[in-house]
Amino acid sequence: MSAPLVLGIETSCDETGVGVVRGRQLLANVIASSMDEHARFGGVVPEVAARAHLEALTPTLTAALAEADVALDDLDAIAVTSGPGLSGALMVGIGAAKALALATGKPLYAVNHLVGHVGADVLRSDGTEIELPTIALLVSGGHTSLLLVRDLLNDVELLGETIDDAAGEAFDKVARLLGLGYPGGPRIDEAAASGDPDAIRFPRGLTQPKDRERHRYDFSFSGLKTAVARFVEQRRDAGLEVPVADVAAGFRESVADVLTAKAVDACLEHRIPRLLLGGGVAANARIRDLAAERTTAAGIELRVPPLPLCTDNGAMIAAIGAALVAAGRAPSAGGFGADSTLP
Ligand code: KG4
Ligand code: ZN
Repeated sequence: MSAPLVLGIETSCDETGVGVVRGRQLLANVIASSMDEHARFGGVVPEVAARAHLEALTPTLTAALAEADVALDDLDAIAVTSGPGLSGALMVGIGAAKALALATGKPLYAVNHLVGHVGADVLRSDGTEIELPTIALLVSGGHTSLLLVRDLLNDVELLGETIDDAAGEAFDKVARLLGLGYPGGPRIDEAAASGDPDAIRFPRGLTQPKDRERHRYDFSFSGLKTAVARFVEQRRDAGLEVPVADVAAGFRESVADVLTAKAVDACLEHRIPRLLLGGGVAANARIRDLAAERTTAAGIELRVPPLPLCTDNGAMIAAIGAALVAAGRAPSAGGFGADSTLP
């Protein structure tokens, strides 16, 4: 069989993504975001996201098929994100994928969203291939996870994750606190560019010696967010101006420091000289720079897929679907629902 032609549907958070791949080749990657609708709330509202997926799914699907220049009938399989994510949002994609599979008679594959982020790397056009095992640091508005990937389809271990807010969520909340708007990540990146990252030292979550036992590779950003809020409040109460650029730079430094330090530690402990970054927060300039600096110093290869493949998208889900088909795996049983189990 030639490389399988697979359609992938992603609706775990606020992006409605539909992608089409032929094996490792990217044919279409169409994304509709409900970000603007969440802007007035300063963060993703699950109910709003689910409704937006319902409205966006058919046009996104139609656009992806047109971009790939394929018909539903041509497909070898359909793949859909089954979790982790917002359950109402996931249900929209899962329901649509099941209906499509039923109507076309195509096999349907449930794909883990985090595995999808790692799988995005196989679609890059520079001809290089991801080498396994690898450590993967996935950071977005919905998740902050450190994975050890030995085999994409069979052996993915969660080393740690956030115990409260996702990193992107922290960016969004701090940006709102500083009056910078939404989404917070790019706004903070912009403001921080003219700030001094050492002017204010904010706490580094879960990096105390006592955390090395239970939370070695876990993350926490709610204490950091509170520290920023307290700092801003004290300045305002004292009638002083808030040094927005310095606060943004100090906050960003704390997040970048913790994320990259733990990721590099995981590479060293497991003797894996490879680190893959993924998720929307991987767009952050300081996180990228610090990751590059620290991996180079430790002799670790750093891979960052191009940004449209880093953020939530349907093509990465299709890529995993294609790998499952190529491996001869049976389609998922029809009764699956939202599920965040890793392979
Ligand atoms: O992967 P993504 O598109 O998926 C969702 O979680 O929806 O990530 C979006 C998140 C948002 O929280 C946004 O603030 C953050 O990624 N983000 C950034 C940057 N660009 C986007 N965070 C930090 N720095 C950035 N430059
Ligand atoms: Zn994601």
